[in-house]
Amino acid sequence: MSKIQHVGADYLWRAATSPAVMAVRARAWQLLGLLPGARVLDIGCGPGTATLALAARVGMFGAVIGLDSDPEMVASADASARAAGIAGWTRHQQGTATDLPFPPASFDACYCERVLQHLTPDHAVRAVAEAARVTRPGGAICFVDSDWASFSVETSEDALERKLHSLHLAQFHNPFAGRTLGRLLREQGLGFVVTEPIAVPLTAAGALELLARTAQRAVEQKQLSDAELTRWRAAAAVRLAEPDYAAHLTMVIAVGRRL
Ligand SMILES: C[S@@+](CC[C@H](N)C(=O)[O-])C[C@H]1O[C@@H](n2cnc3c(N)ncnc32)[C@H](O)[C@@H]1O
Repeated sequence: MSKIQHVGADYLWRAATSPAVMAVRARAWQLLGLLPGARVLDIGCGPGTATLALAARVGMFGAVIGLDSDPEMVASADASARAAGIAGWTRHQQGTATDLPFPPASFDACYCERVLQHLTPDHAVRAVAEAARVTRPGGAICFVDSDWASFSVETSEDALERKLHSLHLAQFHNPFAGRTLGRLLREQGLGFVVTEPIAVPLTAAGALELLARTAQRAVEQKQLSDAELTRWRAAAAVRLAEPDYAAHLTMVIAVGRRL
């Protein structure tokens, strides 16, 4: 299966403002321990879903810089910062996680959410090394990522769900990024490393939206038959109407301190 196209800003805002992701972030930022006045880098910031909230935490005597490889995400994040009246201490720029355009020790903290899943494992190592390089001694680094091995969607079509599951995770360069985070931080010499897996419940609509895209692509690439897609859609339609629907994905938080 070809690799997933990055999702759009709308999807990222919907995810970031869902209660489950808000809870993951609240815990991640508690572990990151940001103080007012801190200078923070958000790596792979997307449309600024985290930078805006981080800006409120560090306040106007701090600084938040968001970096993303996609110029449209950068423009969207900057527009949101201006609209929120925080552009004086919150800015976004284009760049890559594997070659950060900042001098060593230039931040008090680095945050990076759901980016390593899109990088090859080698590039993920490089991205963590870069975050460690630009964080000052004593500063903290937090990575949050999905472990797609844990993606589980209740259905009456179990075999088809497992087939779609493996097709879905084949779209990521690094689908198991979440479960590697603690090791990656330790390998870069970070101390006091804490990892916390959190099961994120998904709504029926959210889980089915994710798998519907995968199913459609799989049919186009002849990895799933039309008959299988029809069966999957029929089973999914039934689940959408049920109140006790169960689907979840484990996200992992890993925080470490530059020694
Ligand atoms: C799943 S989105 C997460 C965005 C944001 N962290 C959030 O949680 O809303 C992944 C983001 O990483 C960016 N990205 C992918 N590869 C990157 C790289 N090598 N360097 C910097 N950003 C990258 C994408 O453009 C996208 O905005």
